[in-house]
Amino acid sequence: MASNYKTFDVEAIRAQFPILTREIEGKPLAYLDNAASAQKPLAVINALKNQMETSFANVHRGLHTMANETTAAYEGARVKVADFLGAPKTDNIVFTRGATEALNLVAYGLADEIEVGDEIIISQMEHHSNIVPWHFLRERKGAVIKFVPVSDDGVLDLDALKSMLSAKTKVVSLVHMSNVLGTVNPIKEIAPWVKSTGAIFVVDGTQAAVHMPIDVVDLGVDFFCMTGHKLYGPTGIGALYGTMDMLERLRPFNGGGEMIEDVFETHVTYNDPPHKFEAGTPPILEAIGLGAAIDWYRQYDPTDIHQHEMAVYYHALDGLRDINTFKLIGDAPNKGSVLSFNLEGAHAHDVAQILDKYGIAVRAGQHCTQPLMTRLGIHSTARASFGIYNTLDEADRLVEGLKKASHFLS
Ligand code: ALA
Repeated sequence: MASNYKTFDVEAIRAQFPILTREIEGKPLAYLDNAASAQKPLAVINALKNQMETSFANVHRGLHTMANETTAAYEGARVKVADFLGAPKTDNIVFTRGATEALNLVAYGLADEIEVGDEIIISQMEHHSNIVPWHFLRERKGAVIKFVPVSDDGVLDLDALKSMLSAKTKVVSLVHMSNVLGTVNPIKEIAPWVKSTGAIFVVDGTQAAVHMPIDVVDLGVDFFCMTGHKLYGPTGIGALYGTMDMLERLRPFNGGGEMIEDVFETHVTYNDPPHKFEAGTPPILEAIGLGAAIDWYRQYDPTDIHQHEMAVYYHALDGLRDINTFKLIGDAPNKGSVLSFNLEGAHAHDVAQILDKYGIAVRAGQHCTQPLMTRLGIHSTARASFGIYNTLDEADRLVEGLKKASHFLS
């Protein structure tokens, strides 16, 4: 299929990523593993370096100049995340270690509201981080987990979802964009169905936040989880958006300093959200780095980024379809720039290792989605995932590398 997507000149963007000039096995690096983690631009590297070199202290505690400066930078990053997600208030944003911790916080914090037989609806395309925390509630509280089916093409079965919703549904937690299939689920369409049952709607926005504009109010969700390191920011930082009502309802997950209002021998009272959820010294530098990543990323038009990433995706896909052992995994009409595939008769790990010899970095395995692999009747996939700095030339190199891999492995 010829691509209708337009690309743009990425050289100016690539020049901001020092790591992209390195070689692997004597070949230029083609980094196509962005869904696992993205590389960092100088704007992020320098923001971290600058903070450490010029002003660093613990936040919220001190009265000295650097404590105040660092607190302002940390809280400033929260303002950037809130604005990035379209949150009505800065207080809607809780910093977490990543999307996994955000999802765990929600599941843990809702435990008191779950009774035996209550239903939690997720889907067959969820990452383990949006499955295992709900299994904890199944184990501890007797909750029932229901999985919305996924079609062979990787499309969520919306009719099945509608028929599963009932008065027993307490939580619906769905991925916005699949890390394996690239499928983008119609969250805004689903939200009113969930709300009409009175259930809580949680969205795992780990991949989506990198590839499309997010407006949590427009989407109509109760919780939205994101991570920093896939958004060209540091590891160890993510965010949970929650409506104020939901954040008030949620029990805190970690206890310690800063999350309390008063501590007595007999009892404790809690700080207001979001601080209620941020016990101890938070990931200060990581949050500031995430703020820098958001500033950097938002200088580009999201439509241009999307057009570019999909141009690279379809350029690669057009070439790959000529390989007779190539099988695409995930062909939903609405999808992002994640290209999962198998070469018939070859193990995905072998494919990835051969590509590495050509300097091409892809991921292979189950991608933390074992129920999806089981549903599709496969053991694993290889996955190329494209980001803002990838080029048509890198897509060509992927195709050439896979032609050779197909030849070696068949
Ligand atoms: N969840 C990340 C991935 O899909 C690590 O690779």
